[in-house]
Amino acid sequence: MNRPVVLITGALTGIGRATALAFAREGHRVIVSGRRDEAGRALAAELRELGAEAEYMHADVRNEAEIRQVVEQTVARFGRLDIAVNNAGTEGESQPLVELTAANYESTFAANVLGTLLALKYEMRVMLEQGAGSIINLSSIAGHAGFASASVYAGSKHAVEGITKSAALEGAAAGVRVNAVAPGPIATEMLDRFTGSDDAKAGFLATMPARRAGEPDEIAQTIVFLGSDKARYLTGQIVSVDGGFSAQ
Ligand SMILES: NC(=O)c1ccc[n+]([C@@H]2O[C@H](COP(=O)([O-])OP(=O)(O)OC[C@H]3O[C@@H](n4cnc5c(N)ncnc54)[C@H](O)[C@@H]3O)[C@@H](O)[C@H]2O)c1
Repeated sequence: MNRPVVLITGALTGIGRATALAFAREGHRVIVSGRRDEAGRALAAELRELGAEAEYMHADVRNEAEIRQVVEQTVARFGRLDIAVNNAGTEGESQPLVELTAANYESTFAANVLGTLLALKYEMRVMLEQGAGSIINLSSIAGHAGFASASVYAGSKHAVEGITKSAALEGAAAGVRVNAVAPGPIATEMLDRFTGSDDAKAGFLATMPARRAGEPDEIAQTIVFLGSDKARYLTGQIVSVDGGFSAQ
């Protein structure tokens, strides 16, 4: 059997990187995409050391030509696209609404919302034609709950959840599944930037039911499952991996 072909955006750090490693360990063929070419090539080499076929391809997800090219190059190189993980994203700036800047809105929505939409456009074209595929978008606990001083980020991730459900409806009859994973706080550079200091991070984590941050691999394992045939009747869902946060 052909090993599945996986494309991951924003794959060079954090959850994206952990997801690339997890798929490589499954023996999948992995395309890691991002904006820092040297780090991207190093990650692809690391994946090949695990025995996976792997390649780095440059793409800023806000740039339609670049994301289109990555999807087209993937198909040219590997003949198909089985799983896509739309992971690239930014936390933007923490801002009370009374201090909101249009620039924060524009840059956050460009990466999180436009980036997800553009990636879906080209991934779905390939998968609808194939009559098979699984796409996993990255939402957040802020995709279905409000957070003070994070209305821009929360708005962008609520948008990702609406986009995910709509895309699932466009893909379902053709066998293309679209789901989102909604992580709680995960130990990545983004969490450090979002909380700003060790004290603030400890205070934030103390409010979480699990009283700890999740590990990037704890998100990656759910993404691997959603990408697999074990999840073949699962589409249009937002899967919370948040140590109990959304049960409150
Ligand atoms: N860490 C958390 O606590 C947490 C919680 C919920 C959701 N998430 C989501 O998980 C995803 C991954 O975040 P992470 O925690 O690994 O943080 P991270 O900052 O380590 O990873 C985000 C990656 O996306 C890349 N990226 C940003 N904008 C991009 C663009 N325009 N084009 C291409 N790449 C771009 C960044 O360079 C980075 O490598 C994000 O969508 C984030 O919103 C993270």
